Amino acid sequence: MAEKWSPSSWRSKPFVQLPDYPDPELLSQIEAQIAGFPPLVFAGEARKLTRQLARVCEGDGFLLQGGDCAESFAEHRADNIRDFFRVFLQMAVVLTYAAASPVVKVGRIAGQFAKPRSSDIEKQGERTLPSYRGDIVNSIEFEDAARIPDPQRQLKAYRQAAATLNLLRAFAQGGYANLEHVHQWTLGFLNDSPASARYQALADRITETLAFMRACGINPDNTPQLNTTDFFTSHEALLLGYEQALTRVDSTSGDWYDTSGHMLWIGDRTRQPDHAHIEFCRGVKNPIGLKCGPSISPDGLLELVNILNPANEAGRLTLICRFGAGKAGEHLPKLIRAVKREGAKVVWSCDPMHGNTIKASSGFKTRPFDLVLREVEEFFDIHRAEGTHAGGIHVEMTGQNVTECTGGATAISDADLSDRYHTHCDPRLNGDQALELAFLIAERLKKEREERGLPIPAAASA
Ligand code: PEP
Ligand code: CO
Repeated sequence: MAEKWSPSSWRSKPFVQLPDYPDPELLSQIEAQIAGFPPLVFAGEARKLTRQLARVCEGDGFLLQGGDCAESFAEHRADNIRDFFRVFLQMAVVLTYAAASPVVKVGRIAGQFAKPRSSDIEKQGERTLPSYRGDIVNSIEFEDAARIPDPQRQLKAYRQAAATLNLLRAFAQGGYANLEHVHQWTLGFLNDSPASARYQALADRITETLAFMRACGINPDNTPQLNTTDFFTSHEALLLGYEQALTRVDSTSGDWYDTSGHMLWIGDRTRQPDHAHIEFCRGVKNPIGLKCGPSISPDGLLELVNILNPANEAGRLTLICRFGAGKAGEHLPKLIRAVKREGAKVVWSCDPMHGNTIKASSGFKTRPFDLVLREVEEFFDIHRAEGTHAGGIHVEMTGQNVTECTGGATAISDADLSDRYHTHCDPRLNGDQALELAFLIAERLKKEREERGLPIPAAASA
């Protein structure tokens, strides 16, 4: 019999990665203030996402999850949000077409402010300071005062999340997601990309399909599905005091939902089964992601699956695998077999970013595009061999033309990294690299459909 859960039951558990606030009194005051603020998302929306993920779990659909490693206060601008959303939609259209099944769109956005760190301290030259833990906790500036955890930052994060979500809702529902426009942007990308020849055929098929639908009288003016889209938000449920403050009872179901975002995930560093982060997440009904790195064992995973999804509800739990290129073969098959043996219903997703971070000779943290792609390929290969559904990807990306990950069609080199290296935490795919990754995955999805003998959209078989 599980112990009784409450939104604050995590407080009596051990924890790691939570900041040590010097003024607990102020922290409590701010948490109480946030607890009175309006929810950012609604329970019904989170339930809709669970239903969409349940389809992915059953093999029909693909989860596209992505966004900044860490959102920052400094980069809170409309063009950043718009450019991210634009590339994300382009990726989704390419993947939807290739998979001929729905793509569930979940941004790492409107709440992705808190960061777990490998080290509690950061050294620069002779100076050592506490690590930066995300803008919701302290400042990235390398100064003593800036690194002191400040609860006031939670108010700013809440307001930024609300404003970001407001714009995203307008984009998703107000016509910006018009399928024909999104496709036009992709054609523009192909005009400028050195890799265009490879992807042109797929893009042409989408062009033809849209023209065919238009000829049949199906167009964005009379078909809302072509003009609007479902878009969901997600972030790591790390700063538990903030998450608790936004956790509310849903009046329709009587269940608890964390209304800070639609989906929450548990990081690879905070998934100890008896610790605070698992305790908090087990009790909220939002769809939950669990990062699975090389240190997770099959038994350890099953224990967590049972804690987080005791009713074995499809769509509730997404396992986000992040082993590193060349390492998935050693870990993933064992995990898949254990999950299959238990009959546990999960969505399998691949985070090809966090196991592939290296230090470039220039000193920048980077991720070679080839390694990112290789881990995705391995993920697909293994699922194919095990007869399970490779259900999604989880990437760190931006719509901006940054130089943070090396490689890709425009061949960003180590020497280029210093040009536009803006991330507040881990290196992100830039807009072109993100879209290129979507095209490469699309090729793979299309091949799988052909091999499985599933109906392929006529044009996609060309
Ligand atoms: C992240 O997603 O930014 C992250 C820290 O991931 P992980 O917990 O997998 O290391
Ligand atoms: Co990251």
